[in-house]
Amino acid sequence: MKALVALLLLTQLLNCKSIPVGPFQPLLSRVIDCDDPESEEAAAIAVDYINSHNLHGYKFALNSIEKIKVLPRRPTGELFLLELDLLQTECHIVNPLPAENCTVRPITDHVVEGECDVKLLKLDGSFSMLSRKCHSKPDSAEDIIQICPDCPLLAVLNDTRVINAVNLALAQYNGEHEDVYLRLVEIGRAQILHLPDSVSVEFAVVVTNCSGKDAQEHVDGCLPEDQVRFGFCKASVLTEGNITVSCEVYGHQAGVTHDHLTKEHLGGEIPSLSKGFKHHDLRHFHRGPAQDTSDSSSQEAPVATPPAAPVAKRDVGAVLDPSHPPPPIDPIPGHRLPLCPGRIRHYQV
Ligand SMILES: *[C@@H]1O[C@H](CO)[C@@H](O)[C@H](O)[C@H]1NC(C)=O
Ligand SMILES: *[C@@H]1O[C@H](CO)[C@@H](O)[C@H](O)[C@H]1NC(C)=O
Ligand SMILES: *[C@@H]1O[C@H](CO)[C@@H](O)[C@H](O)[C@H]1NC(C)=O
Ligand SMILES: *[C@@H]1O[C@H](CO)[C@@H](O)[C@H](O)[C@H]1NC(C)=O
Repeated sequence: MKALVALLLLTQLLNCKSIPVGPFQPLLSRVIDCDDPESEEAAAIAVDYINSHNLHGYKFALNSIEKIKVLPRRPTGELFLLELDLLQTECHIVNPLPAENCTVRPITDHVVEGECDVKLLKLDGSFSMLSRKCHSKPDSAEDIIQICPDCPLLAVLNDTRVINAVNLALAQYNGEHEDVYLRLVEIGRAQILHLPDSVSVEFAVVVTNCSGKDAQEHVDGCLPEDQVRFGFCKASVLTEGNITVSCEVYGHQAGVTHDHLTKEHLGGEIPSLSKGFKHHDLRHFHRGPAQDTSDSSSQEAPVATPPAAPVAKRDVGAVLDPSHPPPPIDPIPGHRLPLCPGRIRHYQV
């Protein structure tokens, strides 16, 4: 009798959603929690992929897995749909450090949050990316002012004061290092401070085949070496003239060329989509076969996906609190909902 009721329920569910059902389709998706090791494995692969295909700005680190859904796929395998919350790290994309070794920006340093919907295929125990859709945004000024009233906010990347500060800082660095001549490829972020009046900037550079002396004669002929090497600089430029600048240059990495930076943005040409903005939005800049469009996977098996139950407002301690009610029970008998969102690895924005 119970089985019959369940069957009726299912049939109704399917009918009302009018999902076509093939003869041998598994009807239910597998339930795994956001903090399940399998979810974490999928998320790690997705974050790696997002970072290695990001064309501008900084690498991102996983902050939390917000949602996960696992669906059977025809004829074999499973689809993993995840919603991920990311945080900007201090590593620019030209930095060879893997994102998991990069420092996440402290919450006082005007954090940038990323959000991605990703779809992966799990086949024979290993994951591959099918699609991802990301965007990112800086924390709101109101939030920052609440946490830290004196913290500087991000400035618009094409602000004249920012561009001047970058040019002055790089000129000073090049003047102090006669042996190599660095050229700007991208302004990563900038903050305009009062007390003292100054501009603090971060920018990516490329090592050219020129010395300082060569550059004085023909700067336009100073191009990246064949074994291209990138670097990253931080500088603070006081309005009254003092400049502190430090740069690190990374070794050549086999197969890593960042052609879009050396060809399209040499000299620091700001991507048009970033002009007027304070950061390089993950929405705009990426490459690779896992495209933004989510329609590429016609392989998806039709399944009875449980209707989304209201998810409790994100609350870090809630899941472990014994006085907290158990997770909501799905309308399909015996089918529970995943425990989500998962833990927060860094901080809540
Ligand atoms: C990254 O961190 C891991 C774990 O802490 C460490 O084993 C590894 O050597 C680090 N890699 C780099 C390139 O620093
Ligand atoms: C740097 O490379 C470019 C292109 O190969 C070349 O035209 C230029 O003369 C080189 N500059 C120096 C100083 O070697
Ligand atoms: C500017 O630099 C000079 C010399 O390095 C230093 O004496 C002075 O204190 C600096 N001014 C500020 C405002 O940092
Ligand atoms: C920055 O770029 C935006 C969009 O192109 C433009 O409207 C704005 O005037 C630019 N700002 C400066 C200072 O050039």
